[in-house]
Amino acid sequence: MSGTESQMPVTIAGTGSYLPEKILTNADLESLVDTTDEWITSRTGIKARHMAAPGEHTSHMATKAAERALQQVGLAAEDVELIIVATITPDTLTPATACYVQQNLGAHRAVAFDISAACSGFLYAMKISKRLISDGAFKNALIIGAEKLSSFINWEDRTTCVLFGDGAGAAVLRKAEEGEGHILATDIGTDGAQTHLLNIPGGGSACPITIQNADQRLATLAMLGKEVFKHAVTRMRDSANTVIARAGLTAADIKLVIPHQANLRIIDAIADRLAVPNDRVFVNLHKYGNTSAAAIAIALDEAHREKRFEHGDHIILVAFGAGLTWAAAAVRW
Ligand code: UT7
Repeated sequence: MSGTESQMPVTIAGTGSYLPEKILTNADLESLVDTTDEWITSRTGIKARHMAAPGEHTSHMATKAAERALQQVGLAAEDVELIIVATITPDTLTPATACYVQQNLGAHRAVAFDISAACSGFLYAMKISKRLISDGAFKNALIIGAEKLSSFINWEDRTTCVLFGDGAGAAVLRKAEEGEGHILATDIGTDGAQTHLLNIPGGGSACPITIQNADQRLATLAMLGKEVFKHAVTRMRDSANTVIARAGLTAADIKLVIPHQANLRIIDAIADRLAVPNDRVFVNLHKYGNTSAAAIAIALDEAHREKRFEHGDHIILVAFGAGLTWAAAAVRW
């Protein structure tokens, strides 16, 4: 789905991120499950991931990332008008994690809600808030991708527990002033025929956790990795190409591609298919693993702070996740 992009331009005014302190390395995992640093590194590119502390919730990480983004922009919390948290690991099923974040920040005037679009959630939030700002409904938006995946991992399943990590990233969006960069094009899509490929089967109304099924670990991530891999490459390639074309760009115009951080082999395949050299593709999954909705948000903030792009440069953000969902954005910074 791709809306017309001819409305009032919207800029990404600032970014922030937060990673919890504790680091779990591949060597640490070798003592938990039957795996090796060699397998994890060669199959995924991941070397370490961060783990939230006990008592540190998704909303706490989201709040810290948001505070850093607001500080960068110089926007006071009480002036934030919209907060969208993208997460599949909310603090509670209800209320939304965004409500806790609103309270933590003191952003009392903001409308706050969550969206669930897995790893594509941050870019879904970007598209939604861009439209709401363009339409004049809100002056600004704080969009956050935040996950505490460590609470939804089966730590005895080597096929999933080595892949994921915790963290949060945030961005502030507002109307672009004359001469400022802006979001040129967005694309989002869903294939509900593939819900079985990647999901958390238990803990919702379809399969509540009961005394009878408590030992089956149904409220943990289950994935058919090989199938997901194939969809990830084609969907991200197509979504990125859609926004590149809609923005009137070619591969040569792109300063940096910031892809979802799930697997280095997927990232390399996308770079290859987009004909963008590897030094123009941002990678940080060796440090953080796959942080789902937080991944693109954290990567955008890191790339921004490392000055991997500057005013006038074109960047492509592209994500893929459970649903299946995918999304991309072309941005002139
Ligand atoms: O964020 C949402 C999107 N998610 C993704 O995009 C993830 C997409 N999928 C992937 O990244 C990859 O499919 C995985 C990293 C999950 C798996 O890599 P793979 O190359 O597809 O491996 P595989 O699942 O085919 O497993 C190969 C072998 C199996 O052994 P056998 O059956 O060949 O004897 C697995 O049991 O590797 C074994 N294996 C492991 N060995 C050591 C699986 N996990 C591990 C492990 N350590 N942690």
